Amino acid sequence: MPQTPSIDISGNSGCSVRLVRQSQRIAVEKSSQQPSYIPRLKTQIKKQQAFNNRIDDSRICIPKLYEEIEDGAYYSALMEFLPYLNFIDFLSSCSAPALFQSIEIINNFICQNTGKASITINRPALAKLDEIEHKVTDSQPKTQIFQCSSMKLKRYFEHKEITLRAGPCHGDFTLSNLVFSATGDCVGLFDFLDSYIDSPVIDLLKLRQDSQLHWSFLKARKTSSHIRIYQGLKKLDLFAQRKLSKLGVSEDAYRALQAVNLLRILPYANEPETLNFIQSSLKNMEI
Ligand SMILES: Nc1ncnc2c1ncn2[C@@H]1O[C@H](COP(=O)(O)OP(=O)(O)OP(=O)(O)O)[C@@H](O)[C@H]1O
Ligand SMILES: [Mg+2]
Repeated sequence: MPQTPSIDISGNSGCSVRLVRQSQRIAVEKSSQQPSYIPRLKTQIKKQQAFNNRIDDSRICIPKLYEEIEDGAYYSALMEFLPYLNFIDFLSSCSAPALFQSIEIINNFICQNTGKASITINRPALAKLDEIEHKVTDSQPKTQIFQCSSMKLKRYFEHKEITLRAGPCHGDFTLSNLVFSATGDCVGLFDFLDSYIDSPVIDLLKLRQDSQLHWSFLKARKTSSHIRIYQGLKKLDLFAQRKLSKLGVSEDAYRALQAVNLLRILPYANEPETLNFIQSSLKNMEI
């Protein structure tokens, strides 16, 4: 039975996300009028469709695309609405078996994306750091945060070869882009994003950005069920930590890769709260 939709329909500054009624069904419309944002949105929808065709597990729900409209400087995608719970509502109310099942589904998503081949990621990681450095030059606080960890990180990636299992990844696997059925038998995924490295490890880093560092929780509305949510996040984190280790990612490599992941937020961080999050999380990574 579908749950009551608890949906924070909003879009970031570049897009608008809204629920629309279409004859017999409710759909989600994601659209943009910003020329710089439209290509990103189109790529995201393409990636979503590719995953929809590829993933072979009916418990992983990826919205079907109903319609795309392109009209000069406007683009919109109309897609299936997933009537599930956001992570706050899910974690504050779910049973232990429901949480366990959801983790099992996430595990299967990662497994299905994990290929046999490995990729060396030192060059893309160093290139990413250079790119971030160029993007933050106009802000002194951002430059300062960047410089606090970049020397150590660059040295790390210059001297230690890091290989990861190759494979497709969601690209923005934070809990704000996942929804959960109350019984834990379905996990919905949307808001796919291009990534600088194609490895399911990237999704585990993004998951730990939430389960360990509480990024989406910081951004979410206030709730009275803090303890239950923290307990749920802890269980998710334990899973992600073990999975990274099973995939051969050492603790050192995790901290370096998570630091790059955090620095990637820096160019887009406009609120002091976000800058504080990045700064304190980098400290947490001991970078
Ligand atoms: N297909 C869907 N079914 C259910 N809820 C959805 C769906 N698509 C989006 N949502 C809801 O709308 C919110 C915003 O959508 P989405 O995550 O796609 O965009 P965004 O994070 O605002 O933008 P950006 O793509 O720039 O990161 C989601 O967090 C989710 O709550
Ligand atoms: Mg999102």
